[in-house]
Amino acid sequence: MVKMNTKTLIPSLAFVWVLATTCIVLAKEPIEPIIPVKEINLAQVELGRKLYFDRRLSKSGFLSCNSCHNLSMGGTDNLKTSVGHNWQQGLINAPTVLNSSMNFVQFWDGRAANLKEQAGGPIASQMEMAFTHTLVIDVLKSIPQYVTEFKLAFSTDSIKIDHVTQAIAEFEKTLVTPNSRFDQWLLGAIDAITEEELAGYQLFKQSGCIICHNGAAVGGSTFQKMGVIEPYKTKSPSEGVGAVTGKESDRFKFKVPTLRNVELTYPYFHDGEAETLTEAVGLMGRLQLGKELTQDENSRIVAFLKTLTGDQPSFPFPILPPSTDKTPQPKPFE
Ligand code: HEC
Ligand code: HEC
Repeated sequence: MVKMNTKTLIPSLAFVWVLATTCIVLAKEPIEPIIPVKEINLAQVELGRKLYFDRRLSKSGFLSCNSCHNLSMGGTDNLKTSVGHNWQQGLINAPTVLNSSMNFVQFWDGRAANLKEQAGGPIASQMEMAFTHTLVIDVLKSIPQYVTEFKLAFSTDSIKIDHVTQAIAEFEKTLVTPNSRFDQWLLGAIDAITEEELAGYQLFKQSGCIICHNGAAVGGSTFQKMGVIEPYKTKSPSEGVGAVTGKESDRFKFKVPTLRNVELTYPYFHDGEAETLTEAVGLMGRLQLGKELTQDENSRIVAFLKTLTGDQPSFPFPILPPSTDKTPQPKPFE
C-alpha cells in the first residue's frame, strides 16, 4: 500500500473534496459549463480564421463571414435580418457563430448537419455572398501565400472547396465562450452571481424555460415549436423545419437558439422581431409556457441571462495575403 504522510494527505483530501463538490454541482444542474475545445488542428484554425475574414470569398469582394457574424459584436450582425449581396434584404435573423459547434444541427431549420456542411452555403447563396465555389478556388489559387497555407494545413497542392469549409469549421470550433459568471458559479464560485441573478436562474428552471434551453449551450439541442401554447404572429415567411421535411407537424418548429451571450445577440427570434431581452422573455413566457411573467420576474430572468456572457474569442486581427495580377476581380455592383 502507498504510505501517505499528513503533508500529502491533506492536499489530496482537499482535492477530492473540490472534485466531489464540483461533480455534485455539475450533476445537479441542467446547464453545464462551457469547456474549450482541446483537440484542434492549429494549421487549419489559422487558415480558417483568415478565410472567415476574407471578403474575397464573396462576389462583391465586400462581404465576409464576419460581415454578418461580427466577432466584435457577439458573432451576429445585430440586424433584424441580414444585408446580403447588392444590399438584398435577408429572410431570417443571423444566429451567432459563438458556440455554434455545440448545435446539434446548423441553421434555424437544421438543414445543415454540421459546421463544415454549413460553411459552403453562404458563399454560394445568391442572397448572401453570391459567389460560386469554383470562383472561390480560383481566387485562393491565385494567391501564393494561401497556396502555401493550404499545403501546410491539408498536405495538398490542389485546393478544394472541402478544404475551405473544413478550415472555416475548424476555426469556428474555437469560437466558444467559457468562463461566464454563471459558469464560474456552476464550478463553485458562489459569489460569482448576485442574489437577483440566482433568483432569476431558479425562476428560469421553475417556470419551465429549462425544458427547451438546457445543456452547455443553454439551447441548440432540439427543434421546438414557436408558439406552443399561443400561436406566434409574424410577417416572416419562414416555416422552420416544416419547409425541410414537408410535414405539417414540423411547421413553425425551429432549432432552439443558444442563450449563451444572448445579451449581445439582439434582436431576437428567427424574424428578429423582438428588439430587447425583456420583450423576448415576456413573449417566451406567454407563447411557450402560458405564463404571464410580472415585471419583477421578467427582470430577474433577464439578469440571469446576462450572466451567460462568457469570454469572447480573442486573437490578433488577421492580416490577409494580398491579391496578385492573376486574382479574379471583385464585382461589387453586379
Ligand atoms: C449576408 C449575411 C451572412 C453571411 C455573409 C454569412 N452568413 Fe452565416 N448566417 C446568416 C444567416 C441569415 C443565417 C441563418 C440562415 C438560416 O438559418 O436559414 C446564418 C447561419 C449561419 C450558421 C448557423 C448557426 C446556427 O445556429 O444555426 C453558421 C455556423 C454560419 N452562418 C456561419 C457562416 C460562415 C462560416 C460564413 C462565411 C463563409 C457565413 N456564415 C456567412 C447570414 C450570413
Ligand atoms: C417549448 C420550448 C421552449 C420553452 C419552454 C422556452 N423557449 Fe425560449 N425559445 C424556444 C424556441 C424554439 C426559440 C426560437 C423561436 C423563434 O425564433 O421563432 C426560443 C427563443 C428564445 C429567445 C431568443 C433567443 C435568440 O437568440 O433569438 C430567448 C431570449 C428565449 N427563448 C428565452 C426563453 C425563456 C426566458 C423562457 C422561459 C420563460 C423560454 N425561452 C422558454 C423554445 C422554448
